[in-house]
Amino acid sequence: METLVFEQELKERTRLAEEVLKKYLPAEGGPQGRLTEAMNYSLLAGGKRLRPVLMRETYEMCGGQEEDPALEAFMAAIEMIHTYSLVHDDLPAMDNDCYRRGKKTTWYVYGDAMGILAGDGLLNYAFETAAGALTRCCQGEGIPEGERMAGLKRISEAFSVLARKAGIYGMIGGQAVDIMDSENQTAVAENGNQAPEDKGGEPQELERLLFIHEHKTAALIQAAMMIGAILAGAAPQKVREIEKCAYNIGIAFQIQDDVLDVVGNSQELGKSIGSDAQNNKRTYVALMGLDRAKADVEALSQEAVDILDGFQGRHEFLKQLILALIHRTH
Ligand code: IPE
Ligand code: IPE
Ligand code: MG
Ligand code: MG
Ligand code: MG
Repeated sequence: METLVFEQELKERTRLAEEVLKKYLPAEGGPQGRLTEAMNYSLLAGGKRLRPVLMRETYEMCGGQEEDPALEAFMAAIEMIHTYSLVHDDLPAMDNDCYRRGKKTTWYVYGDAMGILAGDGLLNYAFETAAGALTRCCQGEGIPEGERMAGLKRISEAFSVLARKAGIYGMIGGQAVDIMDSENQTAVAENGNQAPEDKGGEPQELERLLFIHEHKTAALIQAAMMIGAILAGAAPQKVREIEKCAYNIGIAFQIQDDVLDVVGNSQELGKSIGSDAQNNKRTYVALMGLDRAKADVEALSQEAVDILDGFQGRHEFLKQLILALIHRTH
């Protein structure tokens, strides 16, 4: 696929994901109107919409039919969960960032308390949205019983993947270890003390950093792609292959995020740079150096593409997207 064609396709698919998201936005107004306004502020601030795009592409690669209302609900739900993770990640108690998606962060505009609640609201609303798909499938009038049961099975499986990958054994778990580590590193920097649980030594440090990257970032990318595959009716073995492929994409994506925090352009990125150093984060760049980080982004992405090439369904765009992420600047 030529670069120009790819770029047009990416624009179009991003626009489609955005359109889907807009169908599911919470209504503003009422006594809690400021809360829904803050939720919509962060949802509509922009962003690459990578996770819903990956979900739909994987769905199509695995043979899913167009216009699946369950797919659309899950596309919106994953973007809500991702956005909430960013809203909370930016809070003063976490990374303390003021700039995101080219705008002031949610807490900066609405205050800390509303920032916390907007994040809570987005997380909960994501599951309300996904639950809507279950309800609609249950009610599916005129659909033969067997078909309805198969649909319900797929949606409940997607639901449980979403919950697990976003939760304590997924994204939240990764964020917790990220925070514990940066607190440890700050204690070391301030007191010159080796924190008790910090055993030092490169292999353990790398292992721990990969745990963080896998959970805080790869988990939601895995959820996006696995749900696409599950809703398309892919066999369990295929879903496992997608999980591995998305692991590679996710780790590469977070390494590149670490790279951009050092060498990126804040305006282009739409978020503050230098945040990791300021918060004493142990990043892939800090641990392995810039050159090795860049080389690993490339190798991991190539491995992801190799896994995709084992799939029969059309995936040219998906492949180009993964390769384009290697050199992303935002
Ligand atoms: C940022 O994710 C947080 C990470 C997991 C690195 P994105 O880079 O996908 O953020 P948006 O959605 O485009 O704003
Ligand atoms: C956070 O990683 C990943 C999330 C789960 C939000 P970072 O803290 O590095 O993300 P950015 O750089 O603020 O987007
Ligand atoms: Mg963070
Ligand atoms: Mg951050
Ligand atoms: Mg970062």
